[in-house]
Amino acid sequence: MERPPSSATCASNEPKQDRIPPALRDAPRGRYSSENSTSIFPNGAAEWRKNSPPLRGKPFPSGRRHRMDLTKADEIIDEYQQDRSWLVMILQDVQEAYNYLPAPALRRVADRLEIALGQVYNVATFYSSFALEQRGKHLIRVCDGTACHLRGAVNLREEITRQLGITEGQTTPDKMFTLEEVACLGACALAPVMTVDSEYHGQMTLEKLRQTLEVYSQGEVPAATG
Ligand code: FES
Repeated sequence: MERPPSSATCASNEPKQDRIPPALRDAPRGRYSSENSTSIFPNGAAEWRKNSPPLRGKPFPSGRRHRMDLTKADEIIDEYQQDRSWLVMILQDVQEAYNYLPAPALRRVADRLEIALGQVYNVATFYSSFALEQRGKHLIRVCDGTACHLRGAVNLREEITRQLGITEGQTTPDKMFTLEEVACLGACALAPVMTVDSEYHGQMTLEKLRQTLEVYSQGEVPAATG
Protein backbone atom coordinates (compact mmCIF):
# COMPACT_ATOMS: atom_id res chain seq x y z
CA MET A 1 0.00 0.00 0.00
CA GLU A 2 1.22 3.49 -0.89
CA ARG A 3 2.33 5.54 2.11
CA PRO A 4 0.76 9.04 2.52
CA PRO A 5 3.06 12.03 1.97
CA SER A 6 5.07 12.94 5.05
CA SER A 7 3.02 16.15 5.66
CA ALA A 8 -0.12 14.02 6.22
CA THR A 9 1.38 11.68 8.81
CA CYS A 10 -0.28 11.38 12.19
CA ALA A 11 0.85 14.04 14.68
CA SER A 12 1.77 11.33 17.17
CA ASN A 13 4.50 10.15 14.79
CA GLU A 14 6.23 13.53 14.95
CA PRO A 15 9.30 13.80 17.15
CA LYS A 16 8.15 14.63 20.66
CA GLN A 17 10.15 17.88 20.79
CA ASP A 18 8.33 19.17 17.66
CA ARG A 19 4.92 18.83 19.35
CA ILE A 20 5.83 21.20 22.20
CA PRO A 21 4.58 24.77 21.51
CA PRO A 22 7.50 27.06 20.69
CA ALA A 23 6.68 29.30 23.66
CA LEU A 24 7.20 26.40 26.06
CA ARG A 25 10.01 24.61 24.27
CA ASP A 26 12.77 26.65 25.85
CA ALA A 27 11.10 27.26 29.21
CA PRO A 28 13.08 26.11 32.26
CA ARG A 29 12.10 22.66 33.52
CA GLY A 30 10.92 21.81 36.98
CA ARG A 31 7.63 22.50 38.70
CA TYR A 32 8.92 25.36 40.79
CA SER A 33 11.02 27.10 38.16
CA SER A 34 9.83 30.66 37.89
CA GLU A 35 12.56 32.23 35.88
CA ASN A 36 11.30 32.92 32.33
CA SER A 37 8.40 30.49 32.92
CA THR A 38 5.37 30.70 30.64
CA SER A 39 1.90 30.76 32.23
CA ILE A 40 -1.42 29.91 30.56
CA PHE A 41 -2.88 32.80 32.63
CA PRO A 42 -1.22 35.90 31.14
CA ASN A 43 -2.52 38.11 33.99
CA GLY A 44 -2.08 35.53 36.70
CA ALA A 45 -4.39 32.76 37.98
CA ALA A 46 -5.91 34.97 40.69
CA GLU A 47 -6.97 37.54 38.11
CA TRP A 48 -8.46 34.81 35.90
CA ARG A 49 -10.45 33.37 38.82
CA LYS A 50 -11.79 36.80 39.70
CA ASN A 51 -13.13 37.44 36.20
CA SER A 52 -14.28 33.94 35.27
CA PRO A 53 -17.98 33.04 35.71
CA PRO A 54 -18.80 30.74 38.63
CA LEU A 55 -19.17 27.05 37.82
CA ARG A 56 -22.63 26.54 36.27
CA GLY A 57 -23.86 29.67 37.97
CA LYS A 58 -23.05 28.36 41.45
CA PRO A 59 -20.12 29.14 43.71
CA PHE A 60 -17.66 26.36 44.31
CA PRO A 61 -18.97 24.19 47.16
CA SER A 62 -16.95 24.63 50.29
CA GLY A 63 -17.49 21.01 51.37
CA ARG A 64 -18.01 21.96 54.99
CA ARG A 65 -21.32 23.63 54.21
CA HIS A 66 -22.69 20.33 52.84
CA ARG A 67 -21.66 18.29 55.84
CA MET A 68 -24.63 17.07 57.85
CA ASP A 69 -25.18 18.53 61.27
CA LEU A 70 -25.13 15.51 63.60
CA THR A 71 -25.69 17.42 66.83
CA LYS A 72 -29.13 15.88 67.29
CA ALA A 73 -27.79 12.38 66.67
CA ASP A 74 -25.04 12.98 69.25
CA GLU A 75 -27.56 14.22 71.80
CA ILE A 76 -29.72 11.13 71.29
CA ILE A 77 -26.73 8.82 71.67
CA ASP A 78 -25.75 10.69 74.84
CA GLU A 79 -29.28 10.27 76.22
CA TYR A 80 -28.85 6.51 75.93
CA GLN A 81 -25.34 6.76 77.40
CA GLN A 82 -23.83 5.19 74.29
CA ASP A 83 -25.36 1.89 75.33
CA ARG A 84 -25.47 -0.39 72.30
CA SER A 85 -28.31 -2.45 73.79
CA TRP A 86 -30.58 0.54 73.01
CA LEU A 87 -29.69 0.51 69.32
CA VAL A 88 -33.28 0.18 68.07
CA MET A 89 -34.51 2.98 70.32
CA ILE A 90 -31.61 5.18 69.27
CA LEU A 91 -32.42 4.61 65.60
CA GLN A 92 -36.08 5.38 66.25
CA ASP A 93 -35.20 8.68 67.88
CA VAL A 94 -32.68 9.54 65.16
CA GLN A 95 -35.35 8.89 62.55
CA GLU A 96 -37.79 11.08 64.43
CA ALA A 97 -35.21 13.87 64.56
CA TYR A 98 -34.21 13.73 60.87
CA ASN A 99 -37.42 12.26 59.43
CA TYR A 100 -35.33 9.36 58.06
CA LEU A 101 -32.03 7.62 58.80
CA PRO A 102 -29.32 9.52 56.93
CA ALA A 103 -26.13 7.58 56.18
CA PRO A 104 -23.88 10.00 58.14
CA ALA A 105 -26.09 9.55 61.22
CA LEU A 106 -25.88 5.75 60.92
CA ARG A 107 -22.10 6.01 60.71
CA ARG A 108 -22.07 8.23 63.80
CA VAL A 109 -24.23 5.72 65.70
CA ALA A 110 -21.90 2.87 64.72
CA ASP A 111 -18.79 4.84 65.69
CA ARG A 112 -20.06 5.98 69.05
CA LEU A 113 -21.63 2.66 70.05
CA GLU A 114 -18.47 0.93 68.82
CA ILE A 115 -20.32 -1.58 66.69
CA ALA A 116 -19.91 -2.49 63.03
CA LEU A 117 -21.69 -0.25 60.55
CA GLY A 118 -23.09 -3.40 58.93
CA GLN A 119 -24.80 -4.30 62.18
CA VAL A 120 -26.48 -0.89 62.32
CA TYR A 121 -27.63 -1.30 58.71
CA ASN A 122 -28.94 -4.79 59.50
CA VAL A 123 -31.24 -3.36 62.14
CA ALA A 124 -32.18 -0.32 60.05
CA THR A 125 -33.20 -2.48 57.10
CA PHE A 126 -34.88 -5.22 59.16
CA TYR A 127 -37.71 -3.03 60.44
CA SER A 128 -39.99 -1.64 57.75
CA SER A 129 -40.69 1.43 59.87
CA PHE A 130 -37.14 2.65 59.29
CA ALA A 131 -36.51 4.71 56.16
CA LEU A 132 -33.05 5.09 54.65
CA GLU A 133 -34.20 7.71 52.16
CA GLN A 134 -35.60 11.11 52.84
CA ARG A 135 -39.36 11.05 53.27
CA GLY A 136 -42.02 13.67 52.85
CA LYS A 137 -43.24 15.87 55.66
CA HIS A 138 -46.30 13.64 56.04
CA LEU A 139 -46.16 9.85 55.85
CA ILE A 140 -49.35 8.26 54.53
CA ARG A 141 -49.73 4.58 55.35
CA VAL A 142 -52.55 2.76 53.61
CA CYS A 143 -53.43 -0.62 55.03
CA ASP A 144 -53.78 -3.48 52.60
CA GLY A 145 -54.47 -6.21 55.14
CA THR A 146 -57.31 -8.61 54.50
CA ALA A 147 -60.06 -6.58 56.18
CA CYS A 148 -59.00 -3.33 54.52
CA HIS A 149 -58.41 -4.98 51.16
CA LEU A 150 -61.94 -6.41 51.16
CA ARG A 151 -63.36 -3.00 51.98
CA GLY A 152 -61.68 -1.11 49.17
CA ALA A 153 -58.14 -0.20 50.26
CA VAL A 154 -57.07 -0.49 46.63
CA ASN A 155 -59.41 2.35 45.69
CA LEU A 156 -57.86 4.53 48.38
CA ARG A 157 -54.37 3.87 47.08
CA GLU A 158 -55.38 4.57 43.51
CA GLU A 159 -57.06 7.82 44.54
CA ILE A 160 -53.89 8.92 46.35
CA THR A 161 -51.90 8.16 43.21
CA ARG A 162 -54.37 10.19 41.17
CA GLN A 163 -54.32 13.12 43.59
CA LEU A 164 -50.63 13.25 44.48
CA GLY A 165 -48.99 11.49 41.54
CA ILE A 166 -47.06 9.02 43.72
CA THR A 167 -47.18 5.27 44.13
CA GLU A 168 -46.05 3.03 46.96
CA GLY A 169 -42.68 4.08 48.37
CA GLN A 170 -42.59 7.40 46.51
CA THR A 171 -42.46 10.98 47.75
CA THR A 172 -44.08 13.99 46.12
CA PRO A 173 -41.60 16.38 44.45
CA ASP A 174 -42.43 19.09 47.00
CA LYS A 175 -41.45 16.62 49.77
CA MET A 176 -44.89 16.98 51.34
CA PHE A 177 -46.17 13.37 51.22
CA THR A 178 -44.70 9.88 51.14
CA LEU A 179 -46.94 6.89 50.46
CA GLU A 180 -46.45 3.49 52.05
CA GLU A 181 -48.51 0.35 52.01
CA VAL A 182 -48.65 -1.78 55.16
CA ALA A 183 -50.04 -5.20 55.98
CA CYS A 184 -52.18 -4.28 58.99
CA LEU A 185 -52.50 -1.18 61.12
CA GLY A 186 -54.14 -3.07 63.97
CA ALA A 187 -57.52 -1.37 63.60
CA CYS A 188 -59.30 -3.88 61.37
CA ALA A 189 -62.73 -3.00 62.80
CA LEU A 190 -62.34 0.44 61.21
CA ALA A 191 -61.40 -0.88 57.76
CA PRO A 192 -60.45 0.54 55.40
CA VAL A 193 -57.85 2.35 57.45
CA MET A 194 -54.99 4.69 56.72
CA THR A 195 -52.73 6.78 58.88
CA VAL A 196 -51.16 10.13 58.21
CA ASP A 197 -48.14 10.44 60.49
CA SER A 198 -49.48 9.14 63.80
CA GLU A 199 -53.18 9.94 63.16
CA TYR A 200 -55.56 7.10 62.32
CA HIS A 201 -58.27 7.65 59.73
CA GLY A 202 -60.78 4.79 59.66
CA GLN A 203 -63.82 3.83 57.57
CA MET A 204 -62.32 5.85 54.78
CA THR A 205 -64.26 6.78 51.70
CA LEU A 206 -62.89 8.50 48.63
CA GLU A 207 -64.59 11.72 49.70
CA LYS A 208 -63.06 11.57 53.19
CA LEU A 209 -59.68 10.84 51.64
CA ARG A 210 -59.85 13.91 49.38
CA GLN A 211 -60.81 16.12 52.31
CA THR A 212 -58.01 14.70 54.46
CA LEU A 213 -55.36 15.27 51.79
CA GLU A 214 -56.60 18.78 51.18
CA VAL A 215 -56.39 19.70 54.85
CA TYR A 216 -52.84 18.33 55.17
CA SER A 217 -51.81 20.08 51.96
CA GLN A 218 -52.89 23.36 53.52
CA GLY A 219 -50.60 22.74 56.46
CA GLU A 220 -53.30 21.78 58.94
CA VAL A 221 -53.69 18.53 60.84
CA PRO A 222 -57.26 17.22 60.73
CA ALA A 223 -58.76 15.33 63.64
CA ALA A 224 -58.51 11.56 63.41
CA THR A 225 -61.64 9.91 62.06
CA GLY A 226 -63.23 6.53 62.34
S1 FES B 1 -56.36 -5.20 57.94
FE1 FES B 1 -56.33 -3.06 57.88
S2 FES B 1 -56.12 -2.51 59.92
FE2 FES B 1 -56.01 -4.63 59.96
